[in-house]
Amino acid sequence: MSSRFPTTRLRRLRRTPALRDLVRENTLSAEHLIYPIFVEEGLDEPQPINGMPGQYRIPESQLADEARRLAALGLRSIMPFGVSHHKDDIGSDALSGTGLLARMTRTIKEAAPELVVIPDICFCEYTTHGHCGVICDDHVDNDITIANLGRQAVIAAAAGADMVAPSAAMDGQVAAIRAALDDAGFSHVPIMAYSTKMASSFYGPFREAAGSTLKGDRKAYQMDPMNGREALRESLQDEAEGADILMVKPAMAYLDVMADIRRHSLLPLAAYQVSGEYAMIKFAAQAGVIDERAVVRESLGAMRRAGADLILTYFAAQLLEEGL
Ligand code: PBG
Repeated sequence: MSSRFPTTRLRRLRRTPALRDLVRENTLSAEHLIYPIFVEEGLDEPQPINGMPGQYRIPESQLADEARRLAALGLRSIMPFGVSHHKDDIGSDALSGTGLLARMTRTIKEAAPELVVIPDICFCEYTTHGHCGVICDDHVDNDITIANLGRQAVIAAAAGADMVAPSAAMDGQVAAIRAALDDAGFSHVPIMAYSTKMASSFYGPFREAAGSTLKGDRKAYQMDPMNGREALRESLQDEAEGADILMVKPAMAYLDVMADIRRHSLLPLAAYQVSGEYAMIKFAAQAGVIDERAVVRESLGAMRRAGADLILTYFAAQLLEEGL
């Protein structure tokens, strides 16, 4: 006998909070979150970042306290970006054992040894021109830059980095870094590759946050946002070069790419919710048109659903303060 009523009622499992919790497919928790922070040398007080309400450039002199505060909140992993006052044309500060990259890595590890410290490995924060590597004849030279990225990764590892995250978008950078780390006795240090990194306009507020001097764009090395097949190729190439973790960046506009990589690789996958994504949520919430708390969880939940294991987000500290 066919019923006059629906036989399939998906609402049955939505009736109470406990039933909804019981069948929830994806969750967020502290161990999946990585918090990117900006650390500036020669600064006295935290500087608010205008494009990223709630985020500050942290004075290097206050970094130890901030690391302890974040660890006490329950943060597990952190990605420090340096805001350098010692820029030159190749970014040599990042190649020095006493430069900002090395100092901030050491400071965090000493203050909060339990934090997983994953420095960004790139030169754009340390070069006067703001590009991610060494300029030769009007372009960023790939092979000179990857040799330098290898040296930079060794500097970070020697300072105590638990993992390195190359973001310069150079060909062969993962293989070059792996070889350099192995040669220097750091074969145990994993590489989280920014493996699918778009030349995205969602990085807007980061330029202010990191004190970038870039004029122009990075389209000659970062990926064209229109390309999906190439996005998969980039990640599979990094896997073949020895990456331990893959990443898609930005996140929200690239969930298709994330799901595609998830189907084609067995590696852990990270999603980077970038500065512009953070800004859109913050400013929309300030305008009173969205519920910030709910939208943050919805956007990060979508990344988990698309296959991301780890999430880099500027909301990490706030999420821990509010409770996940
Ligand atoms: C360095 C780097 C950038 C970001 C992370 N690492 C800037 C860029 O590639 O232009 C952007 C992160 C963000 O917007 O939150 N290459």
